Amino acid sequence: MPVTIVVGAQWGDEGKGRIVDFLAAASDAVARFGGGANAGHTVRVGVDTYKLSIVPSGAVAGKDCIIGPGTVVSPRQFVSEIETLRVAGVDTSRVWLSDLAHLILPYHIELDRRAEENRGSRALGTTGKGIGPAYVDRADRTGLRAGDLRDVARCASIIGQRCAQLAASGLEIDLFAEVSALESLAPKVLPHVRDTVAMLWQLLNDGKRVLAEGAQGTLLDVNFGSYPHVTSSVTVAGGACAGLGIGPKDIDNVLGVVKAYQTRVGAGPFPTELSGAAGERLRELGSEFGVVTGRPRRCGWLDLPALRYAARLNGLTHIALTKLDVLDSFDELRVCNDYLRRTDESMPFAMAEDPHPAYAELAGWRQPIGAARGWEDLPENARAYIEFIEAYVGVPVSYVSVGPERSQIVVRSGAPIVPIPAAA
Ligand code: GDP
Ligand code: IMO
Ligand code: MG
Repeated sequence: MPVTIVVGAQWGDEGKGRIVDFLAAASDAVARFGGGANAGHTVRVGVDTYKLSIVPSGAVAGKDCIIGPGTVVSPRQFVSEIETLRVAGVDTSRVWLSDLAHLILPYHIELDRRAEENRGSRALGTTGKGIGPAYVDRADRTGLRAGDLRDVARCASIIGQRCAQLAASGLEIDLFAEVSALESLAPKVLPHVRDTVAMLWQLLNDGKRVLAEGAQGTLLDVNFGSYPHVTSSVTVAGGACAGLGIGPKDIDNVLGVVKAYQTRVGAGPFPTELSGAAGERLRELGSEFGVVTGRPRRCGWLDLPALRYAARLNGLTHIALTKLDVLDSFDELRVCNDYLRRTDESMPFAMAEDPHPAYAELAGWRQPIGAARGWEDLPENARAYIEFIEAYVGVPVSYVSVGPERSQIVVRSGAPIVPIPAAA
């Protein structure tokens, strides 16, 4: 059972890309199972920074990369991202796009923009990448799949029908422009398109180790997140099977990536949010600005009741705690360990009405930890912070990331995947 699922356990931007890149060294393939270019995953190797949106983060480590059937992909964005990575020296010849993945077309992006405009003060703060409308078309059975690009005339007919529907609802789309754009993009996309399901089965039959890379985070899941302030895909670990075409028996580990504090981009409830100078301090120290939109991320203290919910939902077997170094300069740290206003409602409803978070106070370590590579290198108070999280959530913290660079990580005993460190 060689699949390890990597999911975000909060509201996204936990450092999934960074963790996937690290684990990719000891894996054979990396497969994205959901979302689209709303994701922004950052990988730093030495002084080089790579930003990936739809291409799995395993590309930087030169692994086979699959963009699975559960994703939604803009051909234009795909071609541009592949080209940017290629110019940056990344081998993109092994990036494979599932023929079953749905396409994001320019009218999805326009529909996304209009929907946000119509929501006015209730705007969700989407990334504007057309994600919601593309998933709507998939569910409505009016979508186009990457495999359809093999027959552009067929694409033109499907787009024509969709444009007629849109025109009836007042949105005029230039059909000619849509189709001719697709005609010029198809030859660039098609060399990457294949049956990734069969490919993945082959990898698994051969006993290869595969990482299933999640996008977004648990609290952005369309069903279990802080609805309606969520994305439109399944972001929890269960989505990896449906999004890649494998069964639960193929999974052996589920790794939750957890930022040492809490952030979110876009609108929606955030019980432990810090306003004013305190939030600003975390934002500055953590460089909390979105990869995709550049928007400042909202910041707050770690929310353990929400994390316990995420741990159970995903069936987490391990945690990778990231950005612990961002807390280096704090005298005192707070961690939400209770919601005082308890209701019988499920978490999305409980969160939506201010749950009155209560906090535990823990002493800071007040020293830089970026050079730590072993558990004993971490200051006692940093270890106490980690152990507090472990005890509350009941899941071992197997990786502790102490900086954005590939090597800045502490791997603890019992960690499921242990890459051999590169020679210095
Ligand atoms: P993702 O969407 O989950 O892959 O995360 P993002 O890449 O959007 O955001 C995480 C940000 O934190 C990136 O800028 C990373 O380079 C950075 N980062 C990741 N791990 C660490 C860490 O341990 N310490 C610090 N200081 N930065 C980190
Ligand atoms: P990664 O993979 C953080 C948020 C948006 C918005 C909501 C809906 O980098 O962690 P959408 O465009 O998906 O319809 O927007 O979801 N969102 C993310 N927030 N990280 C992400 O991805 C996100 N992807 C979507 O900000 O609130
Ligand atoms: Mg991100």
